[in-house]
Amino acid sequence: MIQSSSLEQQLKGRDFLTLVDYSKEEITYLLELANYLKKQQRAGKMEQPLQGKTLGMIFEKSSTRTRVSFEVGMYQLGGTALFLSKEDIQMGRGESIPDTARVLSSYLDGMMVRTFSQSVVEELANYASIPVINGLTDTYHPCQVLADLQTIQEIKGGLQGVKIAYIGDGNNMAHSLMIGASKMGMDVAIAAPNGYQPDPSITKKAQSFANTEGGTVLITDDPQVATGKADVIYSDVWASMGQESEQEKRVEAFANFQVNTELLELAKPDVTFLHCLPAHRGEEVTSEVIDGEHSAVFQQAENRLHAQKALMTALIG
Ligand code: CP
Ligand code: NVA
Repeated sequence: MIQSSSLEQQLKGRDFLTLVDYSKEEITYLLELANYLKKQQRAGKMEQPLQGKTLGMIFEKSSTRTRVSFEVGMYQLGGTALFLSKEDIQMGRGESIPDTARVLSSYLDGMMVRTFSQSVVEELANYASIPVINGLTDTYHPCQVLADLQTIQEIKGGLQGVKIAYIGDGNNMAHSLMIGASKMGMDVAIAAPNGYQPDPSITKKAQSFANTEGGTVLITDDPQVATGKADVIYSDVWASMGQESEQEKRVEAFANFQVNTELLELAKPDVTFLHCLPAHRGEEVTSEVIDGEHSAVFQQAENRLHAQKALMTALIG
């Protein structure tokens, strides 16, 4: 295992609700650990620092990647994961968040939660005595961005000064990318239609991290402006989970925000296309792009496993 006793101590027992709470040094450590665990797995050498530990996973929204990568990750690290859907637990019938947090803390060693409001993960974390990991809320998706940073680092050889352009909704992905990228000294440009731009208070945070780390943050309503000289182009669905009723309205609002070959040509010739998935081909991205030579979306999806194994090892191990 990677040795850094002060960072190990710093991370043990912590919650992971947003990358806002994590320093560049801590994120760098988690990425190094993720790379190490990936290499070990490739070499058939499985380390099991979480033997005897149990992760509870509360899901109030659907998931393929998050559910499977956490469950498999926990298994590979020697522990166990419990899938707790909203329908199965009393929280879904109105048991309070403080009671749920206190009870689950007495059985589990860590809790992963996918829900709507960021305030739910915050309240769970306030009352739980075990680490709480945000597996996606309407505001943030920090686990995804840990895997995204790992992927960008693998492909571009580093993060400092790398330009990422996010094209689409100013949603949970845009927020977490802005925070993660600015913390790592990247240049981040978000192109979103007016009315769908990121939360200004989160943009302000990203801007201040960028000032400290030597990066930049740009918010625009012009995808072509955002894409110029980009090393990475990122997209996400136009209607997120919980916004299904707005689908039609959003397809109209985002019509000019599709990532297609024409847009890709404005970026650097070796641009990488990323998408958190699930994707809607023909809406936010064309098949030509997501299934084309610039796309690294499956490498990115695989890295969810390695990045989260690093996270669980650091927080729960
Ligand atoms: N990217 C992501 O979080 O995928 P799932 O919704 O399938 O977990
Ligand atoms: N913005 C998307 C991300 C899915 C991983 C959603 O919240 O549905």
